[in-house]
Amino acid sequence: MRDMLIIGNWKTYIATSKDAKALLASTKRVAAMSRAKIIVAPPFPYIGLLATGKKSKVGLAAQDMSESAVGNATGEVSGEVLKSLGISHVIVGHSERRARGESDMVVAAKVRRALSTGLIPILCIGESERDHDAKYLQFLKGQLDAAIKPLAPKDRARVVIAYEPIWAIGKTANDSASPHDVAEMMLYIRKLLREHVSEKEAARATILYGGSVEPENAHALRKSGHVDGFLVGHASADSKMFAALIKAAS
Ligand code: PGA
Repeated sequence: MRDMLIIGNWKTYIATSKDAKALLASTKRVAAMSRAKIIVAPPFPYIGLLATGKKSKVGLAAQDMSESAVGNATGEVSGEVLKSLGISHVIVGHSERRARGESDMVVAAKVRRALSTGLIPILCIGESERDHDAKYLQFLKGQLDAAIKPLAPKDRARVVIAYEPIWAIGKTANDSASPHDVAEMMLYIRKLLREHVSEKEAARATILYGGSVEPENAHALRKSGHVDGFLVGHASADSKMFAALIKAAS
């Protein structure tokens, strides 16, 4: 089994810089005892505050980035800025951004910009509901193809995929996708990837699950869900919960 990649998406859960510093410090203590690779994605202002430039057991990701290069894009944060702060990853196309109007085209542009600035995009895909005719599988293919197809073949395998069914986000472990369902989706996404990259690259691609991963279900999802890691929301914003989750998942 590969070491897990666990990404904590703090969203807007952390209201003060003091809390952000404390949460990072406690996450570092847990990460030091874990084999998993831990990355946290704080809101933009905290990224500047928390990025020390030093090598750390906990990496930093951005929750979003601009699709524009440096220049005239008021209010946006460019990939160049993130790169200069030592940020390694960026979440792209999170359902909470898509719900605010971000189209597949914009998501694709952000994935391209991330790669061209040397950041690893974490591309989020996920259906809002599961219909009996399994149309959601086609929907997921659409989201994936839209972002991966336009990339140069050499870049495609660098994208981390996060499968996050919208119906499972922000709830409790009981409402998460089951390990069985997650395992099926991991296989399905790997199969879709094979249309864009070599067999070997598809087998090696990092595919995460996100949607109400908590300490209670992290172990089962890891054991039977065939995931390479997790994208964790609310549970990553609570130091005790995140510590228990990392232990359960590693
Ligand atoms: P959740 O969020 O863990 O709170 O469900 C996951 C996500 O939106 O990335």
